[in-house]
Amino acid sequence: MTISSAPPLVCFAHRGASGHEPENTLRSFSKALALGAPWIEFDVRAVEDEAIVFHDRTLTRCAKRFGFIDRQSLAAVRSYDVGKGERIPLLSEVLALIRGKAKAQVELKGFGSASAAARVIKEALVQGWQARDFLVSAFDQIELSIFKGEHPEIPIGLLVYGYPINLDEMIRTFEPISLHLHIDAVTTQRIADARAKGLAVYVYTANETHDIETLRDMGVDGLFTNFPDRVLGLTRKDLLHTP
Ligand code: G3P
Ligand code: MG
Repeated sequence: MTISSAPPLVCFAHRGASGHEPENTLRSFSKALALGAPWIEFDVRAVEDEAIVFHDRTLTRCAKRFGFIDRQSLAAVRSYDVGKGERIPLLSEVLALIRGKAKAQVELKGFGSASAAARVIKEALVQGWQARDFLVSAFDQIELSIFKGEHPEIPIGLLVYGYPINLDEMIRTFEPISLHLHIDAVTTQRIADARAKGLAVYVYTANETHDIETLRDMGVDGLFTNFPDRVLGLTRKDLLHTP
């Protein structure tokens, strides 16, 4: 058994507990809550200017249909079965489900996602959500800048695939608190570099226990995982053995 005195990993349930239940559904988010995930990550797209929670550009993989999701009517999108009878949720429904139980790592995907999400989050802030209950990211820097313009008080995470050559410029632009790095792009030198620039390093997506343990030992701050039980189990196991 690997024993570590490192601080506990921040655990992001990736698309909910999507290793157990259909991704990005209320069922998947409920499972993540039941497993004790402190953060839930999900993907926001805009359909008819409404913020919905869905990962792919097309319907093929999750809804077993053809077509781009943002070219459907909202009523049609809401009628599709995305696994075990689950429907594609609205952002407002997801926030209502997890409010007070987990924080929201909102990933903006696709044109219009920033404005649609910003409107829903504005209402959530009125209803008692705090800015620190959110962490917003996007691969698309235009969407991210639109969101930051609407909600400068909400923490931003820089979401990248490879390590960015212009990280300093991105930091100046977005004033992020974290760097969300693909598992293939992680090195100890990059972890140190990002940390030196004041960023927490969160890695997506680690599902295998040996990957989770290796990344933990490399010193990452947190992990996105389809199996929050595996990350949280590791952390609890470590706490048990830490003097
Ligand atoms: O936000 C982390 C991760 O979800 C980014 O990639 O494709 O799984 O949304 P993807
Ligand atoms: Mg995502």
